[in-house]
Amino acid sequence: GPYSTILVERRGRTALLTLNRPKALNALSLDVMRETVEATEALDRDPDVGCIVITGSGEKAFAAGADIKEMQPRSYMDMYLSDWFTAWDRLGQLRTPTIAAVRGYALGGGCELAMLCDLVIASDTAVFGQPEIRLGVIPGIGGSQRLTRAVGKAKAMDLCLTGRNMDAEEAERAGLVSRIVPDADLLEEALAVAGTVSGRSAPVAMMAKEAVNRAFETTLAEGVRFERRLFHAVFATEDQKEGMRAFSEKRPAAFTHR
Ligand code: HXC
Repeated sequence: GPYSTILVERRGRTALLTLNRPKALNALSLDVMRETVEATEALDRDPDVGCIVITGSGEKAFAAGADIKEMQPRSYMDMYLSDWFTAWDRLGQLRTPTIAAVRGYALGGGCELAMLCDLVIASDTAVFGQPEIRLGVIPGIGGSQRLTRAVGKAKAMDLCLTGRNMDAEEAERAGLVSRIVPDADLLEEALAVAGTVSGRSAPVAMMAKEAVNRAFETTLAEGVRFERRLFHAVFATEDQKEGMRAFSEKRPAAFTHR
């Protein structure tokens, strides 16, 4: 393929992106960042893609964090002038729904990458954490903000200050993980969920995603007002006509993504 650190495959209307540095536990180097952002933005523009699944290669890790060896020699000026990690923010701006399929370690930047996705499906082997403090640094891809919104202050402070890990059960209880599945079924289950999502109306799914994400950006009253405007707007889609007609006719909807 055109990429050196990731693999991109298509399964119908689902795209599967695999972080592919298994010997480094899929550590998120600058190349991984550039390629992942470029690939997902291209998929986001493709009307034939309704959902993007991101996973890690190998048994041991989704991603064991940003690449420590790459960061080690850098100075403040290096980090500031290159605006280190800022490109990752673009993953959170995609309109297409994204699913992180997590097996093994999702630490530091790996946990942050999972949290940049819309859903996190975890194998029962998954391990989450923000261990940056062990290295004398803090999260740098939004972890202090997204983890706190996902699991609340109590657990976020615990993880960020001690650097301890959390297993899949704890992560699900805390609200970081959407579903836990047996390790052997992880990819199949994530692709099945992606298939369900990409079978829904693409524009309506984008609006649903936008509405949920708005909850993290605004007040309740403004968020409800925003939802109401989108709710009215879906009545301008062909898919709303089809979805409601199909219900009345007791058949599955055949959405055209218009
Ligand atoms: C670079 C990494 C890496 C990483 C693992 N490797 N994690 N390389 N960056 N984040 C490499 C190891 O150096 C090793 O390479 C190989 O992957 C296998 O890892 P091992 O440590 O030998 O495996 P194991 O003993 O099973 O331990 C697994 C582990 C450990 C517990 C996940 O690798 C680990 O603690 N990794 C670092 C986790 C972490 O601190 N992540 C946060 C990074 S900071 P060799 O060549 O020796 O075989 C971050 C946020 C950045 O993500 C924000 C701050 C600016």
